[in-house]
Amino acid sequence: MGEVHPAAFRDALGIYKLIKRFPKEVLPRPLSDIATHIDRFFVYKDKNRVAGTVSWKILPEIGNEKEHIIEIVSLCVDKKFHGKGVGRSLVDAVIDHIFQYKPTRIILLTFSPGFFEKFGFKRISKEKLYSKIYLGCINCTKYTNPLDCPEVAMELKMG
Ligand SMILES: CC(C)(COP(=O)(O)OP(=O)(O)OC[C@H]1O[C@@H](n2cnc3c(N)ncnc32)[C@H](O)[C@@H]1OP(=O)(O)O)[C@@H](O)C(=O)NCCC(=O)NCCS
Repeated sequence: MGEVHPAAFRDALGIYKLIKRFPKEVLPRPLSDIATHIDRFFVYKDKNRVAGTVSWKILPEIGNEKEHIIEIVSLCVDKKFHGKGVGRSLVDAVIDHIFQYKPTRIILLTFSPGFFEKFGFKRISKEKLYSKIYLGCINCTKYTNPLDCPEVAMELKMG
């Protein structure tokens, strides 16, 4: 198996195309957004093609200066490579990387809670994710009520 490593600009188009193949599970991102945040992506490549990716975002916390939240986003693996440990390597890489910033929690929204439970993530209520709802979910085009969306909210406490 190849290695997971930080993305480079030349990977941006491959990341863009891979994310677009999972419109239900992963929010599509414009190519310009991917390129300007390329330092926040990891990739798994097979024969020079992007076959897996993951990224992260910082969520501002309002009213609690001791809380620092990072969200894992844009995780996807080419279906040909499912079940081979690529997803695990990507999540391990992103958690290892963001550890240096000492966030108090890592959060995410997912249709695959069982996968993330393997890393110690626990299910939480969406009401605990106000900054995420305010910044992202409020503009959701898929569901009328962000608190009712079928994705499961999860967190990994770090602090
Ligand atoms: C979820 C996803 C990233 C997993 O990637 P993967 O490379 O197939 O996962 P891995 O092979 O590294 O699996 C690691 C472990 O998780 C388990 N696992 C994988 N997918 C799972 C799922 N959907 N639910 C529960 N467990 C899962 C594997 O069985 C394996 O368990 P083991 O270590 O006990 O053998 C991949 O299925 C995917 O890209 N899905 C579509 C996009 C998506 O849902 N992204 C997540 C958005 S938050």
